[in-house]
Amino acid sequence: MAPVKVTKICCIGAGYVGGPTCAVIALKCPHITVTIVDLNQARVDAWNSPDFKLPIYEPGLDDVVRQARGRNLFFSTDVDKGIKEADLIFVSVNTPTKKSGVGAGFAADLNYVELATRRIAHVSESSKIVVEKSTVPCRTAESMRTILEANSKPNCRFDILSNPEFLAEGTAISDLFGPDRVLIGSLQTPEGKDACASLAGVYSNWVPTNRILSVGLWSSELSKLAANAMLAQRISSVNALSAICEATGANIDEVAHAVGYDSRVGNKFLRASVGFGGSCFQKDILNLVYLSESLHLPEVAAYWRQVVEMNEYQKKRFSKNVVDTLFNTITGKRIAVLGFAFKADTGDTRESAAITLIKDFQAERALVNIYDPQVEHNQIWADLTEAIPNTPLENIKKQVTISASALEACKGAEAVVIATEWKEFRDIDWALVYEGMNKPAFVFDGRLIIDAEKLRKIGFKVKTIGRGERV
Ligand SMILES: NC(=O)c1ccc[n+]([C@@H]2O[C@H](COP(=O)([O-])OP(=O)(O)OC[C@H]3O[C@@H](n4cnc5c(N)ncnc54)[C@H](O)[C@@H]3O)[C@@H](O)[C@H]2O)c1
Repeated sequence: MAPVKVTKICCIGAGYVGGPTCAVIALKCPHITVTIVDLNQARVDAWNSPDFKLPIYEPGLDDVVRQARGRNLFFSTDVDKGIKEADLIFVSVNTPTKKSGVGAGFAADLNYVELATRRIAHVSESSKIVVEKSTVPCRTAESMRTILEANSKPNCRFDILSNPEFLAEGTAISDLFGPDRVLIGSLQTPEGKDACASLAGVYSNWVPTNRILSVGLWSSELSKLAANAMLAQRISSVNALSAICEATGANIDEVAHAVGYDSRVGNKFLRASVGFGGSCFQKDILNLVYLSESLHLPEVAAYWRQVVEMNEYQKKRFSKNVVDTLFNTITGKRIAVLGFAFKADTGDTRESAAITLIKDFQAERALVNIYDPQVEHNQIWADLTEAIPNTPLENIKKQVTISASALEACKGAEAVVIATEWKEFRDIDWALVYEGMNKPAFVFDGRLIIDAEKLRKIGFKVKTIGRGERV
């Protein structure tokens, strides 16, 4: 058997991964018809919106969609039709942390993967290559194969591949245009290798072949968890050092710079901050912790769990620092929180550090003004309602307001907290901000983006993560 030449792709899940990934595949492979399907009608409508008001904000994304949509890129809620017509199907559904039952709080909830897999088995009338794009625990492909084989019709054969996505939100399009690597895991059988060659053939339309790595299925699944765990571990390591810097008068930027010069360490991802967020890091590490415990490896589980605990500590340490510095109480004081997204250049708020900070400030009975250039107001209210249970939204709104600009958010505040590294926060007219604030006016930089000396000259009292200055 020779590898199948892929001409029709279906992607199940039009989210932060499925949308951008398959839009780029469509752009780079005009000879392949790509249909991205999702059960969420509002999301699909937004992908199809005539004015390109897409459901996710990602620099460069609307340009990609503008070029390919209607040509060989389609968005639809007709999941069954998408599956039936495709010869290769990406499963790119969400895999959140389980909220109840066995493994609650740690294990990945594979319900969406299973439902999508069952749908593929149920409606397929021809053979398919089924590709796990979602981040899943090691050996999930085996469960998918069992479901597919037990439910398939005669003459339908399913080959399963793992092809985890390594894009980072905020730089998704450039990551997809020039990935560090594309990883494809397959069974090491002739059929598995053929399926792998089919998918490699898709990527080779724009990715150099030496960047397309073929490995075994289980290695591929584990590599995704391992990559996220190691990236998050770097952040927790540098954040742990930032606490030592603050206590000793060392400067975390200088320490990170010096350490990063070692070519074995490298200089990327060594920036101290108020803590990592996003939909993946915490979820994937907890998943690794659960996997380790299930495999009776408690020491391994404890090691990785500490990366998440250090992140929680960093967020708490930051909000405590705000309270301590504002003379041990923020009750009734106004605090401007600049940034709500978990990082710059995305509207995604999942696990954003800003949510934890605002929750802490709300518990201290402070008044909070939030400003974010991308996040929808409804999303902010939904996140705060979830984070602050047992408090009706109208009560939250008595303490929290959303502002239309950074300047407006800072007006009348005692303190400004920078929670997201949006570039525009660097370029604010800080002298004007100072004029409008109560004095003494404090700035807490949780992202190391402002020029603290410049602000001090204006009159601000500045506290920066990983710097030992007293204010
Ligand atoms: N967001 C990231 O930066 C990132 C990066 C790499 C990998 N991942 C992984 O990719 C996967 C998807 O993440 P995401 O951020 O795109 O999630 P998401 O929640 O944005 O999107 C998932 C989509 O799948 C849809 N869906 C769920 N079940 C479905 C079904 N049975 N049929 C059709 N549609 C269905 C949902 O409606 C949703 O729109 C996760 O496993 C995640 O861990 C995410």
